[in-house]
Amino acid sequence: MHMALVTSKEMFKKAYEGGYAIGAFNVNNMEIVQGITEAAKMENAPVILQVSKGARAYANHTYLVKLVEAAVKETDLPIVLHLDHGPDFETCKSCIDGGFTSVMIDKSGLPFEENIKETRRVVEYAHDHGVVVEAELGTLAGVEDDVKVSAEDSSYTHPEEVEEFVNRTGCDSLAIAIGTSHGAYKFTPAQCTRNADGILVPPPLRFDVLEEVSKRLPGFPIVLHGSSSVPQEFVKIINEYGGKMPDAVGIPEEQLRKAATSAVCKINIDSDLRLAFTAMIRKHFDEHPDHFDPRQYLTDARAALRDMVRHKIVDVLGCNGKA
Ligand code: G3H
Ligand code: 13P
Ligand code: ZN
Repeated sequence: MHMALVTSKEMFKKAYEGGYAIGAFNVNNMEIVQGITEAAKMENAPVILQVSKGARAYANHTYLVKLVEAAVKETDLPIVLHLDHGPDFETCKSCIDGGFTSVMIDKSGLPFEENIKETRRVVEYAHDHGVVVEAELGTLAGVEDDVKVSAEDSSYTHPEEVEEFVNRTGCDSLAIAIGTSHGAYKFTPAQCTRNADGILVPPPLRFDVLEEVSKRLPGFPIVLHGSSSVPQEFVKIINEYGGKMPDAVGIPEEQLRKAATSAVCKINIDSDLRLAFTAMIRKHFDEHPDHFDPRQYLTDARAALRDMVRHKIVDVLGCNGKA
């Protein structure tokens, strides 16, 4: 009997009790799906593959669903297919109707009551169709979809709001803002300190907020967005081989490891995939200026992405052996 796509319900329960987190990686093409799921297979890890509005626009809904279904067939692992940052009911509905097992409705930019109302609407439709829903309270700094949120405007999740939000919406997991942000430039140099080697050290995550939230929602799965660490080894390769990414900085992996042992059951990583992939392609072209077969440079890129995901599974998420 072969595994089919699953919801995150069981996965999160085990992750919560086991003190680890599931990686949620963004997918946009075949090589990315293969790199992530090959890593998960090697480490016998459960995994969430997530698709953004932009990914659906780029690759087409059906192609992405079929690629993920192929990964389930090839790996026989528990895999969740999740809509990342669902912007509205219609997009969520289209994913629910079209084979996804999990959706996020992100109305975190709206006032509390409107966020509840819009989230509730998606939850009702999703639950009627056996699909789970992630919602968000609080605003992450950085670029969230088309809305640019400056660091000053970012507001951490208010712990006193979470119980009412979860009870009234019926959502299955909650993304909170504790100082992570999207993209490869999470903090300006001015927001950081520098260590002895001159490397930027970002401000620590607000573990006090996370603790307050989880106290109010015992057993309830929490999600962290914007959790790439922006490995400096990749930034260095990109910059050495013709790229220009000055002062790119992410969330230190030790902090994510600590978060993974808490109520945080899902950790979102996209930028680090992009960095590994791009670093290897830049390097490959520099070393092989005569190559022009995409299979040559995409083989390198896919392998680097796979190795990076293995490292996340084992050293950051702790979900190896948990499939
Ligand atoms: O949170 C955003 C994810 O990194 C997806 O990015 O909207 O460019 O596909 P995207
Ligand atoms: P990063 O940009 O830190 O990888 O965050 C990804 C994310 O939160 C996707 O929803
Ligand atoms: Zn996100």
